[in-house]
Amino acid sequence: MKIIDSTLKPQFASIFDVEAIRAEFPILKLQVENKPLVYLDNAASSQMPQPVIDRLVRYQTSQHANINRGVHYLSETATAEYEDSRRKLQRFINAGEDREVIFTSGTTDSINLVMHGYGRKFIGVGDEIILTTLEHHSNIVPWQMLAEEKGAKIRVVPINDAGELLIDEYEGLFNERTKFVGVLHVSNALGTINPIKQMIAFAHARGVPVLIDGAQAAPHMRVDVQDLDCDFYTFSGHKMCGPTGIGILYGKAELLERMQPFKGGGDMIMSVTFEKTTYNSIPHKFEAGTPPIAAAIGLGAAVDYLSAIGMDAIAAYELELLNYATEQMSHMPGVRIIGTAPMKTAVVSFEVKGVHPHDIGTLLNQEGVAVRTGHHCVQPVMLRLKVPATTRASFAFYNTMAEVDTFIAGIRTVQKFFT
Ligand SMILES: Cc1ncc(COP(=O)(O)O)c(C=O)c1O
Repeated sequence: MKIIDSTLKPQFASIFDVEAIRAEFPILKLQVENKPLVYLDNAASSQMPQPVIDRLVRYQTSQHANINRGVHYLSETATAEYEDSRRKLQRFINAGEDREVIFTSGTTDSINLVMHGYGRKFIGVGDEIILTTLEHHSNIVPWQMLAEEKGAKIRVVPINDAGELLIDEYEGLFNERTKFVGVLHVSNALGTINPIKQMIAFAHARGVPVLIDGAQAAPHMRVDVQDLDCDFYTFSGHKMCGPTGIGILYGKAELLERMQPFKGGGDMIMSVTFEKTTYNSIPHKFEAGTPPIAAAIGLGAAVDYLSAIGMDAIAAYELELLNYATEQMSHMPGVRIIGTAPMKTAVVSFEVKGVHPHDIGTLLNQEGVAVRTGHHCVQPVMLRLKVPATTRASFAFYNTMAEVDTFIAGIRTVQKFFT
């Protein structure tokens, strides 16, 4: 089988066989508008390979029961598989202990958990929370709700025209009232990779905990939470070849233990009387009710799949895709790339002069190309860069250089249509 990109470094080229990988994704064989599907909406949701689909089927056909309290075979099996998946996630992000990995329904749910569990307990009137202009709405709105409830204040790190955080400004925002920092690892709209290790170290030197929204990083690069030394790290299964409805909150054990529960109910308790309830230990304290067991096991299979390919190989290959697309688009008259930071993942937001992003998306769809158009849940970014919306192509390791060509040809078709 052939290696699509001959410019890949030899160690990656030898292990990265994109055609073999594509063969494992049934959905990539689809035709859309009588054209082969070119799926470039991976930042919204990625596709699922057969081994993950098979794992879900195996769970549903031979392992399903409710977990934790059962003494029968199926319940014990499901519990063991669920906890095994937790350990896979622990290894995937190099967490120190499996009890530091909490299954949530996704990044949004994880951030809300931290807001309720940590924020409502430890952030008060006059305290300050630092966020950045690049944040997804899911790392803005929960903190605004908290700020409103507690009388706290949100301070925002600005960006430059390329879409990079202004780190001097970040450092200048700290004062004795600063109680929390929330920052995304990678921007979903622009692809910017933020210098989070440096930002975390700066915050820690002032005793401030940091939450990292890793929704756009965990699918595309190696994440090591111990090396980063972040206090919280979160991501969603559906963006990394796993199912919807599942995600992870990593938290340092010592912090999770001090936090209050987010949701109350079954499984998160040690004992309940009408006079007093005592809570379970972590991670169970934060997993009230029946969790999405199948999805959690599916996510375990997804990280097995990604790890077998290798996150470094994925990152290197996707960088080649990004460079190939960027190089071509930067020479196209009337096309402007929005988000030009030197450190980026394979996300290209752009505008085509005189054409509304919605029309670009609709015409590209007629070529079989799936991209996303709109504000990408980052309205402050759109406001800052003075664009109402963009068209965004976001790549995954199963995309090919030939698909980049189809996408570029599609943009030319759009331009011809509107001239
Ligand atoms: C950077 C970032 N944060 C958070 C989210 C929210 O993820 P979810 O909808 O899976 O909760 C997204 C989804 O696009 C994202 O890109």
